[in-house]
Amino acid sequence: MYFPKTDEANVSAPLPVSCWDLLERHYANRKPVDIRELNSIPGRFDRLSCSIQNLTFDYSKTSMDERSLDLLLDLVNECRVLQKRDEMFSGAAINTSEQRAVMHTALRNQTADQVLVDGHDVMPSIRGTLQRMKKLCDQLHSGQLRTATGEHFTDVINIGIGGSDLGPMMATRALTPYHQGLKVHFVSNVDSAHINDTLKELDPTRTLVIVASKTFKTIETMTNANVAKSWLQQALDGNASDHLIAVSSAVERAVRFGVASERIFSFSDWVGGRYSIWGPVGLPLMLAIGSSHFDAFLRGAFEMDDHFRNSDPADNIPILLALVGIWHRNICGYGSRALLPYDQRLQRLPAYVQQLDMESNGKSRNKFGRLVQRETGPLVWGEPGTNGQHAFYQWLHQGTTIVPCEFLVAAENHEPGLKGQQDLLLANCLAQSEALMNGRCITSIPGDLLEKVARNTEAGVAEQRTCDGGRPSTTLLYRKLDPSTLGRLLALFEHRVFVEGCIWGINSFDQWGVELGKELATKLLPMIRGGDASSKDESTRGLIAAVGALRTNAAIL
Ligand code: F6P
Repeated sequence: MYFPKTDEANVSAPLPVSCWDLLERHYANRKPVDIRELNSIPGRFDRLSCSIQNLTFDYSKTSMDERSLDLLLDLVNECRVLQKRDEMFSGAAINTSEQRAVMHTALRNQTADQVLVDGHDVMPSIRGTLQRMKKLCDQLHSGQLRTATGEHFTDVINIGIGGSDLGPMMATRALTPYHQGLKVHFVSNVDSAHINDTLKELDPTRTLVIVASKTFKTIETMTNANVAKSWLQQALDGNASDHLIAVSSAVERAVRFGVASERIFSFSDWVGGRYSIWGPVGLPLMLAIGSSHFDAFLRGAFEMDDHFRNSDPADNIPILLALVGIWHRNICGYGSRALLPYDQRLQRLPAYVQQLDMESNGKSRNKFGRLVQRETGPLVWGEPGTNGQHAFYQWLHQGTTIVPCEFLVAAENHEPGLKGQQDLLLANCLAQSEALMNGRCITSIPGDLLEKVARNTEAGVAEQRTCDGGRPSTTLLYRKLDPSTLGRLLALFEHRVFVEGCIWGINSFDQWGVELGKELATKLLPMIRGGDASSKDESTRGLIAAVGALRTNAAIL
């Protein structure tokens, strides 16, 4: 475990005492706990699972017992999580390093109440923008809004990166059964392969381009946006603006880029990039699934907000999910968690949650700038089941590192004729959590093999087949991956990140680590192009020189 050295002056206020200490003592002093044994206690599933409408969270296949849960709930009190939650919803500037409120939840607010930020009700503007998005969407779907040459639009490209890409891209794939005509494509990487391979399949005269960037200055996005704009200009005799939309907080920059002001959908700086899918950044999703399904997506998220705000912590799924995270990260010391959707359409959910979670909680300074005293956000990674089973699950079952697994699976699929495949998917998902928990001991190795072992013809073979078990997992089970369920799941992950951030005492809403790389890339660009690199370290200078040599050789050959 890495911990920067701390000194007295660096330690934040009084050490976060009692509950942490009690939890650590409880973990160290209890006799070794076997998840199998815990799970044989009658009523455990009822006590260590929580259900709300169409969603069940099971955390009974973990090493938590009821005492752990009580202590973790005390930690919620000690860290004033509920007060901090209410501060977030009240529009307080809880993103202290940027002096901003954190109000993405207002984008999905379904009540008629005012939502105040700096004493100003933000709901009229949010509703107005949503109405404009819907109007655009409906006009595109009905064919009322035509191309520069008077035809129907067939394709949309969203150009954005990070929060301006991952959310809509993941959700658009997740909701394929709800797609309505327009084909939506996503370009994020500054690698020319991405924009090139996308554009070459499309007809510029039938394509709408959305440039999505909160700041409208992210170098990857602006580079790709310029390529797409030239592609449109060439095909449309300079009329690219008929095919351009911008989604941004920086309206003036979007206008300077050449987007007509009525085609700019703006949002405020109190919506963080990775929390922005609920507003204009969700436009490509809305264009893919239609405005009424997008409404259902927002309603689902709002239901989760409501549950998070109003349920008792012991029955509050975001809080419980966060507490399982804290238990695994800080008490058991596990460095990563695997997100394993048994839902092919959620194939990009791990990438989305990676940004949401790791950009938010990958911090080693607390919100007062002091070094943290405990580990913060873990590595988040994953792949859809069952594909992952045939790749890295061997390592999960028999490897030397324990990784808590977070399974997601639907009770029903969207293909009534293929119901049997959903049963198979469910069986696989449940088999994995069972196998991780129960493992396989030598006595359950098939008899013929044991006989061979007894004859000593294959020494050690039976042992190699054993799996230790005792490996933790949780399962999120939902009825069906519809727009409302997806909204609920994403809001759940957002609130989990928030609760964990509160408990670690960090600001989950800035990302200064990412900013450093962006600045350096800008300075390195002229050096890659032959400029003076003498200010750089020896390794970087060597690599720049090697790029030059490789290019020269390629030119000679
Ligand atoms: O990855 C860093 C980051 O700042 C993210 O937080 C953000 O989602 C992404 O870059 C894109 O930023 P923008 O929307 O301003 O182009």
